[in-house]
Amino acid sequence: MNSEQIRETYLSFFERHEHLREPSASLIPAPNDTSTLLTVAGMQPFQPYFRGEETPPRSRLCSCQRCFRTPDIEEVGNTARHLTNFEMLGNFSFGDYFKEEAIAWAWELSREGFGFDPERIWITVFEGDDELGLGPDEEAIEIWRGLGVPAERIIGLPRKENFWQAGNSGPCGPCSELYIDRGPDWGPDTDRPGDDSDRFLEYWNLVFTAYELGTDGSLTDLPAKNIDTGLGLERMAVIQQGVESVFDTDLLRPLVDLATELSGRNYGADDHAATRAMRIIADHTRGAVQLLGDGVVPSNERRGYVLRRIMRRAIHQGRVLGLEPPYLGRFAERAIEMLAGFNPVVAAERETVLRWIGIEEESFGRTLDRGSQMLERLIAEAKDSETSWIDAEAAFELHDTYGFPYDLTRELLAEEGLSVDDAGFEELMDQQRERARSGAGGEAEGDHERVLEFVGSTPETRFVGYEDLRSGTSVGRPGFIGAP
Ligand code: GLY
Repeated sequence: MNSEQIRETYLSFFERHEHLREPSASLIPAPNDTSTLLTVAGMQPFQPYFRGEETPPRSRLCSCQRCFRTPDIEEVGNTARHLTNFEMLGNFSFGDYFKEEAIAWAWELSREGFGFDPERIWITVFEGDDELGLGPDEEAIEIWRGLGVPAERIIGLPRKENFWQAGNSGPCGPCSELYIDRGPDWGPDTDRPGDDSDRFLEYWNLVFTAYELGTDGSLTDLPAKNIDTGLGLERMAVIQQGVESVFDTDLLRPLVDLATELSGRNYGADDHAATRAMRIIADHTRGAVQLLGDGVVPSNERRGYVLRRIMRRAIHQGRVLGLEPPYLGRFAERAIEMLAGFNPVVAAERETVLRWIGIEEESFGRTLDRGSQMLERLIAEAKDSETSWIDAEAAFELHDTYGFPYDLTRELLAEEGLSVDDAGFEELMDQQRERARSGAGGEAEGDHERVLEFVGSTPETRFVGYEDLRSGTSVGRPGFIGAP
């Protein structure tokens, strides 16, 4: 199955069970949702329905939601499965069906829609948690047993694994996960779901969303019992397409192929640095175009910083591959082509997306070239003097004078087995903030005067945006009006 067939198999199955298919929401959560910076799960746009604050268009919904999770940014490229952005298929019930139907449909679709041998499906359930005041999920165990899953293939797991919440607060609940056993080629018979094992791949999470988690850690009952499920499209594509990693599925492989074509380097185990670089470029470019499509712009804060960080990491990895700049736009164009069918927003915003990609690549390219030379010098000096440390002052100079991002400095040093004094760096940052603060008062006053003078000395500005979308104009400064 290609990824489009997986989406369609899933969504049409739930449509046949009276779910309304909803389009993916933006990666930017709704303004009143402060639980996370970016949309992390299919359920997130539906939180007001779970809480009973708004009425859903139907009590059964299904969707394929684009998601972005930041904690694993630095893991991307090092493993076969870590990604920052992915698509999550889900079916949702708002006070309608509960565990019985959610479990039975997951079992049916896994076998009949996705063709899994029932003997190879393993189940995990919530084993209870004293702090939450909840016992083991006996009800879920009974339902699975009733469908014919033997007790030895049902594993109880703790809160860390089998209790789901989107951020630090919000609608949440115990969950039950479905795993596929990929067989002895992937690990010994003693491996179990929940172990850090490649043999068992989790593909579907069924959340029994019955509680609201407060920011103080307390649980209260939601007005109704709900269902939220999440099936990772990339994971399912790995299984269906019989490939080793998410980067080999049709969702990412064309980007890896472009990297091999442009660099002439091999993708595969024998060129570790190139393989890692290609994976990072593939994941980060796909994420960047979608964030840009949804209206995030690169900056030094919040979502803008996440975007800037992945764009810069991708640009840097292009250098590792020896690509001739500029190149990020080539990857972005391919990512947009690949996504266009699923994400019409990114296709509609193509020009804007490519413009931002070009601007960031140009400005960061210069920073990268100058900073990398200095960093190489520092690494050589550290090796000559047989130390494993770089001074915080040197890292600070890279950041402050060259604009070289500190997280990249740390990552590049770590690749060489070196580290930097984080606390010392933070102290220097604090001192700089303090200097900026104490200098700001006087300057801000002066700036204000100059702004007033400027405004007073320029001709009247006429707003023409109601009549025209384009207009020739002049940029004024005191005493000077330039040609249009
Ligand atoms: N909301 C369920 C999940 O993300 O696994």
